[in-house]
Amino acid sequence: MRVPFWRSLSGRLLLLTVLFVLLGEVLIYVPSIARYRLAYLHERVEAGHLATLALEAAPRGQLQPELEARMLGHAMVDAVVLRTPARSSFMMSVDMPPPVDDTFDLRESGPVELIFDAFDVMIDGKDKTIRVLDESRMAPGTVVEVVFGQGDLYKSMRDFSNRILTLSIILSLLTASSVFVSLQWLMIGPLRTITANLARFRKNPEDRGSQIADTNRSDEIGLAQKSLSDMQRDLRRALLQKTRLAALGSAMGKVNHDLRNTLATAMIASDSLAQSEDPAVQKVTPRLVSAMDRAVALCSRTLDYAQSDEPELEPARFSLHRMIDDVAEIVAMDTDVKIDWVNEVPADIEVTADHIQLFRVFQNLSRNALDAMPNGGRICISARRDNDEIVIDVVDNGPGIPEKAQANLFQPFAGSARPGGSGLGLAIARENMRLHGGDITLAETGADGTRFRLTLPAD
Ligand SMILES: Nc1ncnc2c1ncn2[C@@H]1O[C@H](COP(=O)(O)OP(=O)(O)O)[C@@H](O)[C@H]1O
Ligand SMILES: [Mg+2]
Repeated sequence: MRVPFWRSLSGRLLLLTVLFVLLGEVLIYVPSIARYRLAYLHERVEAGHLATLALEAAPRGQLQPELEARMLGHAMVDAVVLRTPARSSFMMSVDMPPPVDDTFDLRESGPVELIFDAFDVMIDGKDKTIRVLDESRMAPGTVVEVVFGQGDLYKSMRDFSNRILTLSIILSLLTASSVFVSLQWLMIGPLRTITANLARFRKNPEDRGSQIADTNRSDEIGLAQKSLSDMQRDLRRALLQKTRLAALGSAMGKVNHDLRNTLATAMIASDSLAQSEDPAVQKVTPRLVSAMDRAVALCSRTLDYAQSDEPELEPARFSLHRMIDDVAEIVAMDTDVKIDWVNEVPADIEVTADHIQLFRVFQNLSRNALDAMPNGGRICISARRDNDEIVIDVVDNGPGIPEKAQANLFQPFAGSARPGGSGLGLAIARENMRLHGGDITLAETGADGTRFRLTLPAD
């Protein structure tokens, strides 16, 4: 997938660099053009002052008209007036000095004013004649006043500006292209490699060749590349394991299937054994039958789990209290264990959930409790609303969960600690609760009993 140049990272950065460099140049240019004009004006004032020095030496303070004109021409001014602290004044002027359009007193000009005046010159100052006043640098206290046309100033300021403009353009292009090149080299290139690799990895995650190459870079991109590489490695291993497990699962399915049929045949055989009159045989047969029953049940549950997909939920709204009553009734029906059922769920709590699946969760929890308390006990179920959750506690006063079952309690096939157990009940319960947007955790367990805590989103 290619991004159009002006929308790409490098394109945008290129543009931004040009803009920033130009902005920088403008910030430099504005005061420097004002300073340029000021220097020019100072120069005229000093030149005018120099020209008047000849007057002081001349007899009666008068010069030959051509000499005067030549001196003014050299100073590039039309007229000069000099006022000394002793209040004497000298004046030189061309024959017909042009009328003055503007007067600038450099003794009183601030920086902002100087900037505006400079732009004034370049905008429409070409044909103006101006008068400039300043204190002489050579003779403090002496005020020099010069009059001249701005044409020359206008032209040199324009030249100066053009030079700066050209320079700025060259500079910004140079900077921008070096930024561009380094960016390509440091970021865009590696990013492209990463993107291309991701695409390849997505197509074929199991192929070792699609893993991103290792890098020596220690910067952020290098880090990203390293964690990407680690992630790909882990993912590939997980995938491989999943594939193996899936294969194992289907093999298990086949074995289980055959085993169940074999066991069914054995059951028929044991049924005829039960008819036997031999007391020794009659004594062992019930145990044989119940062992085979358990084996068949285990096979069936394992097969169901292996074949089941994530169930489609069919949510409905119902009273939690009523459902718990139903669970108690059903569970009590096929056991001889004496159980004291306490349903403490407030009657007004309703949940939106798949009734069948949620029923199954509570049925599993109750059966587990029952299995743990063969001599009878108490099962108490309570619930409360807590902000945006409904919290349900299932508590029994059994002997607690054996240590070895606790570690992998919610993992399929791993959490069982009783003979004939599949270790699937709690795993399926958790899968189910999470599908509903809730969860199930073991809140506490010990010699006094066990408490499972379930949550469901409240609505
Ligand atoms: N309420 C309980 N009290 C004591 N032990 C329990 C309780 N619930 C579960 N267990 C223990 O946790 C194990 C795992 O339960 P479960 O996942 O339902 O698998 P299974 O019931 O097939 O063994 C059980 O074998 C049992 O040892
Ligand atoms: Mg169970």
